[in-house]
Amino acid sequence: MCRPDHFAVEYAINPWMDPGAGADREVAIRQWEGLKSAYEGLGHRVSLIDPLEGLPDMVFAANGALVVGGRVYGARFAHPERAAEGPAYLRWFTDNGYDRVHAAASVNEGEGDFLTLDHVVLAGTGFRTDVAAHAEAQEFLGRPVVTLRLVDPRFYHLDTALFPLDGRNVAYFPGAFSAGSREVLRHLFPDAVIADADDAAVLGLNAVSDGTSVVISAEASGLQLELKRRGFEVVPVELSELRKAGGGPKCCTLEIRG
Ligand code: ARG
Repeated sequence: MCRPDHFAVEYAINPWMDPGAGADREVAIRQWEGLKSAYEGLGHRVSLIDPLEGLPDMVFAANGALVVGGRVYGARFAHPERAAEGPAYLRWFTDNGYDRVHAAASVNEGEGDFLTLDHVVLAGTGFRTDVAAHAEAQEFLGRPVVTLRLVDPRFYHLDTALFPLDGRNVAYFPGAFSAGSREVLRHLFPDAVIADADDAAVLGLNAVSDGTSVVISAEASGLQLELKRRGFEVVPVELSELRKAGGGPKCCTLEIRG
């Protein structure tokens, strides 16, 4: 995770961002601390990367890389405003002893657009990550990568529209995907949790599940109910200030898979 010490909404690269309205950094820091405590309360280990001045979106650690089986596939950002985050995150991994590291040739925004299940990695394209990165990641990681096409600019990263419930099943908002990708999702996940537009609009799909507990936007009430019905523990977190930049719990979280 990356503390939002330099967080601000000072440019607009997605429809959630309004530089005129800005955001309150102190509130964002408090909310982010709540998210970090939620993970620690669940017994997860949280590692931190130093926030860099001039990179107001660096708090969104999910975008920094994709780590599967200890292999680190580096990010290459679509927008120049965030470009310097790619090397910064890659450096964190090499500094921390990861030696299987790949600096990507293709544009990709890490776990924003790559979500890992037991047998497959789901990969978004349409707004940020180039479809060429899906093939590059598959070759580097040795895992099958399934391309999904995003069509609604509010859901510009895959992790704003879908999250893995565990290694085998997902929750998603169908309206974010092309017709063909919706069919792929129905085929792969016949038992998926289907979220509605209200849950999606509060970034309820930008959640983090460890297979037992789901850390999720406090406002996503319908989705929370369904998760409880399916036996998950629900851990609501308030991240409204970070949502002004288009991010939720998952965006603030890069999962390191050994
Ligand atoms: N303002 C950031 C951007 O548009 C938000 C990134 C959110 N991260 C995510 N994993 N969806 O790039």
